Amino acid sequence: MRITSIFYVIVLLSLYSTIINAAPATSAVPTLEKRQETEQDPDFNTNIFKSFKPLDITASPITREYTLTLAKTELAPDGFSRQVWTSNGQYPGPMIRANKGDQIVIHIQNNLGDFTTIHWHGIFQRGTTFYDGVAGQTQCLIATGTTFTYNFTGGEQYGTYWWHSHFRSQYVDGLRGALIIHDPKDPYLNDYDEEFVMTLSDWHHEESESLVKKRMAKGYDGYNPIPDSGLISGRGRYDCSKAPQGSKCVPDNPLAVYVIEKGKRYRFRVINTSAEAPFTFSIDQHPLRIIEVEGENVKPITMNKINIAVGQRYSVIVNADKEVNNFWIRATIVKQCIHVTPETINVNSSLNYKVTGILRYNGAPETYPTTQEWDEKILNCRDVDHNLLKLNPPRSPPVTPTDNFTLRITFDNIDGVGHALVNGSPFKPEVNDPTANKLMYGGDETPSMLDPDQNAFVYDTQNGSVEISLINENMATHPFHLHGHNFYIMAHGPGKVPDPSIFNLVDPAVRDTITVAGKSWAVIRYNIDNPGVWAFHCHIEWHVEMGMVGQLIERFSELKGDPIPPQVRSICTLDDDDDDDDDKKDNNNTAKKRSLKAYKNYYKRSDVPNHSRHVKYQFIRGSAY
Ligand code: C2O
Ligand code: CU
Repeated sequence: MRITSIFYVIVLLSLYSTIINAAPATSAVPTLEKRQETEQDPDFNTNIFKSFKPLDITASPITREYTLTLAKTELAPDGFSRQVWTSNGQYPGPMIRANKGDQIVIHIQNNLGDFTTIHWHGIFQRGTTFYDGVAGQTQCLIATGTTFTYNFTGGEQYGTYWWHSHFRSQYVDGLRGALIIHDPKDPYLNDYDEEFVMTLSDWHHEESESLVKKRMAKGYDGYNPIPDSGLISGRGRYDCSKAPQGSKCVPDNPLAVYVIEKGKRYRFRVINTSAEAPFTFSIDQHPLRIIEVEGENVKPITMNKINIAVGQRYSVIVNADKEVNNFWIRATIVKQCIHVTPETINVNSSLNYKVTGILRYNGAPETYPTTQEWDEKILNCRDVDHNLLKLNPPRSPPVTPTDNFTLRITFDNIDGVGHALVNGSPFKPEVNDPTANKLMYGGDETPSMLDPDQNAFVYDTQNGSVEISLINENMATHPFHLHGHNFYIMAHGPGKVPDPSIFNLVDPAVRDTITVAGKSWAVIRYNIDNPGVWAFHCHIEWHVEMGMVGQLIERFSELKGDPIPPQVRSICTLDDDDDDDDDKKDNNNTAKKRSLKAYKNYYKRSDVPNHSRHVKYQFIRGSAY
């Protein structure tokens, strides 16, 4: 009886959505009629060590629908048991895949016992800034016990991305996974037979929330928390003899094992999902042929070792042309980029910086490899040389930027608490009243009304371009990540003063995350073609919590007329019983008012033709699996 009535509701909803969808919509939007019924490979969701092939090509883009159920589960990724923040019971969370142009619908069922938001790292969210998943910037928090649906397309984007919580430091506790967009016209399709995904991360035994509290305690005089281990695709090994009394720890935890067939070529999509750790990645005796960097194809370049900073991704082709045997996969945490003093949190960590996994040829014995590391030194705390990463096909950067900003990165103590500052100001998210709600249709603020601690950078030039100069005035390395865009890397160098004479105006590298070395500058450019509220921040999660975040307010004149779908706004009416924020009450009421007002106006507006653009976001459809 109950099931039948739910069924009717679903039928009615989908009928309604069919009618609504029949209203004029912009032509670039893929239809929602077809959708994937089941994943073609049922294991895919659960086994990151299984190779896969591109998704079947469909005649036109389809909607792919996924559900991520978030919950805390006891797991032992490195042998040491702790509460891991899992997605569908797993860590790392399930891989999400789509073809270029597909609509991606993801239902987040939040059973965490905490608030959350999920961000799709690297996806531009063209026209859907409110689905970017940034707490305090693009949406309100998803309360526990509720479902929130993200609904976006990568448009022209293809390549290797990832998703992670963008509320507090939750992703460090496990809320992260891969997001892959296949390009049916991938120019390198014939260069490999199968694919793998590999995620790298540092791993802590203590919950990140408690680590952040220590990091930001009054008078704390150390650096970022030292991890307890490093993980390859969620597997690592901790020395249990070092585990505290009373903890659950199983020694000799299984390592990550990738099984390959001799004679085949594999595309490995490698993603650094760390809180802080940069890795030097290599596979013994197997050179890495780089073909993609963060969603851009590059002219293939072969290297034996590559540095991968937090947030960065590479696709490399590995040729299984050696004897049938076992080979070490090495993801070495680059010690030199992680500062440690006697005061530093977890300074007695028994972290093994040399994180390993196994590349096993099918038929080889199940033993450890005995292979040697490539005898080769590479520069620490630096990206792969930008000059070697050439776009394929080439594209040239904006020549005369219409807007430019300088972001100076410093650390300072504020009332005895360590903060990270952007132009002298640590960012403070207003999680109950996000920037998008303030500025977009139904909001009542302009960018100039945002508080100084919102670290807003505003540009409104149509057909213009932005130049951002990052000046890192401290010793630490910062992997800076931009939302809503990737960017041309014009140049970088030591000191505080960018040198335009060395800018690459012809064929610079393009990526969405760049390592800015200690006491160095970097200059990036991109086109102003995506109205929205875009975060720009160091991806070291500890620095994010300390305030190293900016918000780019792009094309406000258009943004202010764009509505936020009711299902996104509606969650703002929920109370956050979080007590960290002093002016929470105030904040909450304002947010509620904004939300109600927006609702009313929205429904008024929805009678008006030509504002049907947002309708497509409105309906939660039945789950595909
Ligand atoms: Cu990986 Cu602001 O994101
Ligand atoms: Cu940083």
